[in-house]
Amino acid sequence: MVYDHICSHKSIRSYKETPIPNGELDKILEAATRASTSGNIQPYSIIITKNPENRAELYELHHRQEMILQAPLLLTFCTDWNRMTKWCELNNAKPTWDNLLCFLVGTGDVFIAAQNAALTAESFGLGICYMGTTLNNAPKLAKYFECPKGVIPVTTLVIGYPDEDLELRGRLPIKGILHEEKYQDYSDSAVAELYQEKEAEGWNRYMAYPDLKAKIEEAGVTNLAQVYTDVKYTANENADASKAFLELLKEKDYL
Ligand SMILES: Cc1cc2nc3c(=O)[nH]c(=O)nc-3n(C[C@H](O)[C@H](O)[C@H](O)COP(=O)(O)O)c2cc1C
Repeated sequence: MVYDHICSHKSIRSYKETPIPNGELDKILEAATRASTSGNIQPYSIIITKNPENRAELYELHHRQEMILQAPLLLTFCTDWNRMTKWCELNNAKPTWDNLLCFLVGTGDVFIAAQNAALTAESFGLGICYMGTTLNNAPKLAKYFECPKGVIPVTTLVIGYPDEDLELRGRLPIKGILHEEKYQDYSDSAVAELYQEKEAEGWNRYMAYPDLKAKIEEAGVTNLAQVYTDVKYTANENADASKAFLELLKEKDYL
């Protein structure tokens, strides 16, 4: 059942070198393009990387995440109004896609398509992991991929045969993300209760990685929330990446 398949998803971070059969890759890509898409426009492109030398270059641009070197396939999903713009121009239609709204619409479509690809890959026994580093390093990746105006890399899927067996990761209780009819803001006690399990699970998981444990101790961090704010996603890094992304949006004609 689709439900069982979705609910057993685990991000995989350790891969075998075994290549992915072409027939399966074709189906993964077809499934991506079968996703709902705004106006049936498909304002996205998918860049395939298989070549180990190119993966080694991308490894540097993805903050040296080891799985980039291991997995035989990377799919980089780009928000892309370039193709649509060209088609409109060929047909004497004036394109009006150079704005923030179109970037957001295209980026939404990217993630729906990527998730179809991810679920299909998993249905073939493959593992996947999304790369948040695509957004963080989008300016350098756009340069690396030689993206023209209108094209911005926004996410990457690492795909390959899993070389690890993991437990399911916890999620917030469903009641914690649901609101009846209107948004009901959270009281302090409700937030504390919702995050209680995650606080212990996440902390123990991070402390089990020697590199991360050393960073956590060095930063004087004492709880999971501080791991997020002071170690994993620091204010300076977020501010710098945001600034660079705004520049990229301008360069690619979205602002
Ligand atoms: C958009 C996005 C970006 C992500 N980026 C990374 C990443 O750069 N590195 C990584 O190890 N995991 C990454 N992940 C995986 C998440 O850490 C993972 O989904 C989360 O911890 C929940 O675990 P699960 O997918 O195994 O249930 C990303 C997930 C998403 C949706």
